[in-house]
Parts: sequence; structure tokens; C-alpha cells
Amino acid sequence: MKNSKKIKDAFNDPSIKVPFILPQITNDDKKSINDALESPLLTDGPKLRQFESAFAEFTGSKYAIGVSNGTSALQLSLKALNIGKGDEVIIPDITFIATASAVLLTGATPVLADVNCDDLNISLNSIKNNITSKTKAILPVHFAGKICNMTEIKKIAHRHGLFIIEDCAHAIGTKKKNKHAGTFGDAGCFSFYPTKNFTTIEGGMVITNSKRIAKYVSTARNHGITKSLQQRFSRGRPWEYNVFDPGYNYRLDEIRSALGISQLKKIKKMNLRRKKAFQYYNAKLHMCKGITVPLLSHGEEHACHLYILKIQKEYHMLRNELFLKLLRNGIRSSVHYKPLHEFSVCKKLARWNDSLRNSKELYKKIISLPFYSQISQIEQDKVINCIKKL
Ligand SMILES: Cc1ncc(COP(=O)(O)O)c(C=O)c1O
Repeated sequence: MKNSKKIKDAFNDPSIKVPFILPQITNDDKKSINDALESPLLTDGPKLRQFESAFAEFTGSKYAIGVSNGTSALQLSLKALNIGKGDEVIIPDITFIATASAVLLTGATPVLADVNCDDLNISLNSIKNNITSKTKAILPVHFAGKICNMTEIKKIAHRHGLFIIEDCAHAIGTKKKNKHAGTFGDAGCFSFYPTKNFTTIEGGMVITNSKRIAKYVSTARNHGITKSLQQRFSRGRPWEYNVFDPGYNYRLDEIRSALGISQLKKIKKMNLRRKKAFQYYNAKLHMCKGITVPLLSHGEEHACHLYILKIQKEYHMLRNELFLKLLRNGIRSSVHYKPLHEFSVCKKLARWNDSLRNSKELYKKIISLPFYSQISQIEQDKVINCIKKL
């Protein structure tokens, strides 16, 4: 028992000394889940409403609507803006595939823009190069928790009459001038998948200041039914509701909502620990020849979702070799992400007008080190010493 407790690896590999990620689930979280399980209402109930109000307050948005995951948050936000067949949505080439899938699921075409070499956020020039008469929206991703240049993106969107939907899957707690990521455009979409800064296991949220978007998302997530369970059973006949458009089952249940409420209470502390761990890696690795450490932005809150190094020529080792050597030393690492243009689905269904030079070059160089809120200095030292030794 003692031994099995020591294995932190998700795949139970005893040779792993430092996992890549580790969600932080405390006794408080477990108690919240158990309490929610005692309730006679297990979905579409008071815990969801409570989680939504707490998240709206946390992000400073008027509305927050809980959904089943980050992908459904993106899909419903796009649909709320009537984006579909024949429309184009500009997204970055380096992001998780879900950003593209959400666009494809509406029938629209994702248009891949290049990213910046320094922070891996969507390139403003590439957005401009990709605008056509079919463009309906820009969908920036606040990559690894670093906020995109929203002032400039808003200017471009305004000039061309485009919507902005922010993919905030990496940006729980990211702010610029005290304004939370997701509140700059028309809607902000969050994921609470277990790798994220806090988790509901599966889960997501749409934030918006638009009553119309909020209404569409909250109806469409529940089969298009015009009333909540509470409304249906508190007065009149529960079966008397209407459905105007086909909807989805993208609900967030009471158990996940209870976990979300409990995790949200700890997010500031968890993000602070991430920031300290980020600074520790930077302090120890920035002098290492051939390595570029990630920027930690000043004057803005950076949710420090991932810790991504860039391997330069002077390092005398290719990124894939470093990945293997770390693994042989019991350290898991990964790459965020393989660029979208490399996927068959995007080759078939996406479009791009740009050379995507930066994303192609970055893909050879980037590596994400083990990173999670409770990573210890001992674990970080193992990673740092291994890199230095190599
Ligand atoms: C950038 C980005 N967008 C969208 C998603 C989709 O979120 P989910 O997995 O909750 O559907 C994720 C996460 O996995 C992500 O990292």
C-alpha cells in the first residue's frame, strides 16, 4: 500500500519519478462530491446555478453557463452567433484540436493563422492575412495562460465587423488590467478537463455579457427546452415546455458543479503555486545554453497553465531526443501541440493563406515540462538537473 501510494504516474509506471500533470483533489473536494450525491436532484439543479454565479463573479462577467466540456462551450458560442456553413473562423495553427473541431461541428471552416515565435499566441499579421469576405469570427486561444493582444484583435474585429470568441481553456485566472480572459470579446469558453488549472473532471463554461448568447447557450445545452427542471416542477405542468430549435445534451451535472465550486475556492492559491513553480524553472534554466525559457508577463495575470521550453541549435540535442532522455530518467514531458495543419482532418477541411512558418519551426523546438500546482522543488530539481546534465 505504501509503495502504491508513491506511484504518481497516471499509467502506473513505477519508473516514473515525475509525472507530467497531477490534478489536485483535496478532502474538501471529496466531501463536496459526496454531499452532492446525497441530493435528490443530480443534474440541472442548485449546484450548477451556484457554480455559474461563482464563476461569473470570479471572471467579472454578466452571465456564466455551465456546459459538458470546453469543446461544447466553443461550439455553442459559435452557434449562438449564427456561425455555420459557408462561414470562416480564424483560429491559431498551434492549439488543441478541439478549437478546430468546434468550428467544424457548426459546419463552418476553420482558417489557420500562424502564431508568434515568443509567446505562441495567434499572430496579428496572420489574422489580417487570412480575412476574406466569408470571415465571421476570430477565435484566439490564450495559449498556456498568456493573454493574447486583445486590444489589437478587437481593433481588427471592429474594422471588419467580426465576432470574437476567446478560447480560455488555458486561461483560468488570466487577466489584463484586471479584466479576465474571456470578457474582451463576445464570449469566453473554458474547459475544466483534469489537466486544466482547476478541474470538474469533464466540464466547461461559457461566459458572456450578452443576454442573447447566454439564453441560446443555456437552452441549447439542454435539448433546446425552454425551461429548467426547477421551472418545470415548481409551477404548472412539468411536461409543458417548448423547443424552437434542435438542441444538445451538453449539461453539467450537480456532482461536477459541486466539485467546480470547491475547486474554484482554491484557484488563487493553486495559480500562485503554479507561478512560483514557473519562476523556479525559469531561474534555474534561463542560463542553460541552447534553451529559451518561457516569458512570464509583467503587468498582467498569467495563469501559468503550461511550462514550455524551446530547444535551440546550440543545445546539441533535438527535441525528440530530449523527450526520450527525460523519459528514460523517469520524467514525463509532452508537446503542446502538433500544429493543426498536420492533422488529416484539417488538411481535408481547414484552410490557410499563410506559410505558417513560425508554427512549423516551433513544432520542432517546443517541449512542455512536468507542471502542476503542487509540483515540489525536489521534483522540479530532478527535471532541471536532468536537463543540465544532458
Ligand atoms: C486550447 C483548448 N481548447 C479547447 C479544449 C477543449 O476542452 P475539453 O477537452 O473540455 O472539451 C482544450 C482542452 O482540452 C484546450 O486545451
